Amino acid sequence: MLSHMCGSGGGEGPTPSTEEGMNTSLHTTTTTMATQTDTHSQNHSEMNELPPPRMISQRAHQTLAFPTFSSNYTKMIQANLYDKLTNPKLIVMNGITACLDALSHTLCDPDDVVITPTPVYGRIYTNFHDRSAATVIPLVCSQEDDFALNVKDLEKLIEKTESEGRCVRACVLLHPHNPLGHIYSTAQLRSIMEICAQHEVHVIIDEIYAFSIYNKEIKFNSVLGFESLPDPQRTHVLWGFSKDFSIPGFRLGVIHSLNPWVLSCVTTLSHYHSCPQVIQHAAATIINDEEWCDGFYLPTNQERLAKAHHKICQRLQEMEIAVCKGQGGLYVWANLQAYLQPCTEEREMALFMALVDGGVCILPGKKLYCVNPGWFRIIFAVPDEELEEGLSRIEVVLYVWKKNIESDSS
Ligand SMILES: Cc1ncc(COP(=O)(O)O)c(C=O)c1O
Repeated sequence: MLSHMCGSGGGEGPTPSTEEGMNTSLHTTTTTMATQTDTHSQNHSEMNELPPPRMISQRAHQTLAFPTFSSNYTKMIQANLYDKLTNPKLIVMNGITACLDALSHTLCDPDDVVITPTPVYGRIYTNFHDRSAATVIPLVCSQEDDFALNVKDLEKLIEKTESEGRCVRACVLLHPHNPLGHIYSTAQLRSIMEICAQHEVHVIIDEIYAFSIYNKEIKFNSVLGFESLPDPQRTHVLWGFSKDFSIPGFRLGVIHSLNPWVLSCVTTLSHYHSCPQVIQHAAATIINDEEWCDGFYLPTNQERLAKAHHKICQRLQEMEIAVCKGQGGLYVWANLQAYLQPCTEEREMALFMALVDGGVCILPGKKLYCVNPGWFRIIFAVPDEELEEGLSRIEVVLYVWKKNIESDSS
């Protein structure tokens, strides 16, 4: 199926089920990507119309306006049977990093604002700033609230930013979240999307950890399974192979969007971010093997993640290190504040360096834009012996570190 998607096409698939409980099967997700409710989708003949204001960036207008042979040719093909068969809504690129970069170019003008809840996977900042020169503003989530996202705070932040005369262009959500491991409830996602719709803010949802859910009680509620969306034209969903299949070297990610201008612009940009056909073919072979994917790989992976997550939580508890409660991802968000006196970013970085010297690399919160110093992201999705070794190294470094603090203060 994926090989159909090369460049711009999508495929047919079963109709999505209800909002809750989506994505228990890889095939459900990949096929629903192509079958999302599309009352608002438009065909390419409407591409001759100008996009409404606040829809895409000025740069993207230029990208759309540039008449290349290939884009004209593509339009001709897409106006024919090919378009009807493939109904393009998926764009394939070489990884989610490329997808985010292309979306930043497509949606943002310099100084536009992109909001994302923090702490956050740090590249969201660079992905949305480097090419488009947009400014990423944090929606601060803090340890006082267990790093929960407060929807009212999002609304206030959008209103405050707009009252300063700035254009809030997009809200980026990581779902499941990196580094927190949180999964948002359907109601919460809907509230976020409604607020964004009211303010004409695009919602970009990166679901790269969609199948890496270690809490077996939880069913992941992909936005792609929602029966309706508050603003389908401004909702864009991403997924890639790097995490759920542990093959970041494949460099394969997809953007699902119903917005014809965004699709067209991103299709043009995909020439610079293309994923080799041979990789697409291999990836398609993997996900077309339903028996292996749904019957073996995904449940086994989930089982192993759950086991490793249980193990790391238990060992950290023995070390009296608290972790933030999460449900998905390949990491835990751990509180090492007891080792920081004073609890500052400088001490956090010093502890990070001590850990690196001790042979273990865990990412400090500063690098993930965390407002509270002392939190670290620890990856647990490694072979059992490596997890054991890493945890032992952390224990040794913290023991020596604590002894040094005690002798300094005596
Ligand atoms: C939330 C998130 N999105 C995207 C990426 C990068 O994905 P890719 O390897 O497809 O560029 C990462 C990698 O850590 C990630 O955590």
